[in-house]
Amino acid sequence: MHLLVCGGAGYVGSHVARVLDARGHRVTVLDNLSTGHAEAVRWGRLVEADILDVDSLEAAFHGQRFDAVLHFCARSLVGESVSAPYDYYENNVVGTLNLLRVMRRHAVDRIVFSSTAAVFGNPVAALIDEDHPKAPINPYGASKLMVERMLADAAHAYGLRSVCLRYFNAAGASAEDGIGESHKPETHLIPNLLRALINPAAPLKVFGQDYPTPDGTCVRDYVHVLDLADAHVRALDHMDGAPGAHAFNLGNGTGFSVMQVIRAAERVTGLPVPFEPAPRRAGDPPVLVAASQRARDILGWSPVYTGIEDVLRTAWDWHRAPAF
Ligand code: UFG
Repeated sequence: MHLLVCGGAGYVGSHVARVLDARGHRVTVLDNLSTGHAEAVRWGRLVEADILDVDSLEAAFHGQRFDAVLHFCARSLVGESVSAPYDYYENNVVGTLNLLRVMRRHAVDRIVFSSTAAVFGNPVAALIDEDHPKAPINPYGASKLMVERMLADAAHAYGLRSVCLRYFNAAGASAEDGIGESHKPETHLIPNLLRALINPAAPLKVFGQDYPTPDGTCVRDYVHVLDLADAHVRALDHMDGAPGAHAFNLGNGTGFSVMQVIRAAERVTGLPVPFEPAPRRAGDPPVLVAASQRARDILGWSPVYTGIEDVLRTAWDWHRAPAF
């Protein structure tokens, strides 16, 4: 298949491009390089275009025949979404609507959409499955849920086939392929923790010590970015026999607290993690853990990196010598 990977210069998108290429697909990456890295586009051609610029999107589709689109372009910082909601609704909702309209004009009728655990808001169950209530608590999660709704409506109206993949905490890297996690600013736990190891003068801040969890720090479900990538390939295959709009939660189903991640990183690296307590970060739910049985049953998805140490080892390989 010839696949358009929108946002393919970013963290998850670049790993998906790598796996699609390895499975024999032809990849074209569309990215505005606002947060992505040209160095991460190592599989397929890079088209610089912006989902908020319809002319640039039209130009990217002109003369091409894409079999499907995988869509990763998004603003994705929870805290920033609270202070700048218009930017989030514009980029994530209006930008996606632009992309869907251009796809329709060019008769591309399949999309895999990068969604998030943030569509659920504060969990009301220990394990979050697809039927869990969707009540986002920040504009980021709300913007992703709006797109999920658009895709469901487009399935009815236009016959668009879609799969929404709701990632829990994407983590890890593929250092041997020269790709890994590199955000500016970096807000995620594992990169910040590994940077603190490399530069002990800037200790990791542990946000909140009084959550209702066994050690008082937040619990998350860390899922390897290559396992996420594998789910995208399966989602593409799934659409062959499944018209309509579908959604799957992707996580390992096991939660680790911030302190457990710190201790696991110390075991993996053999180095002490310098850290200090800090106040709670706004918008952080205490516990987010996925129930991914639907992805296992229907997509045949089975994550390879099931232990937190496996995930951390690959992230450490990248952070010791990042290529960008
Ligand atoms: N944390 C720290 N110190 C840091 C960074 C993070 O203690 O320097 C803590 C956070 O408070 C949180 C945990 O580590 O408890 C994980 O934080 P991340 O920023 O790595 O990830 P989030 O759980 O905030 O983000 C994930 C997804 C988002 C999604 C969000 C929903 O990456 O896409 O869950 O809450 F929106």
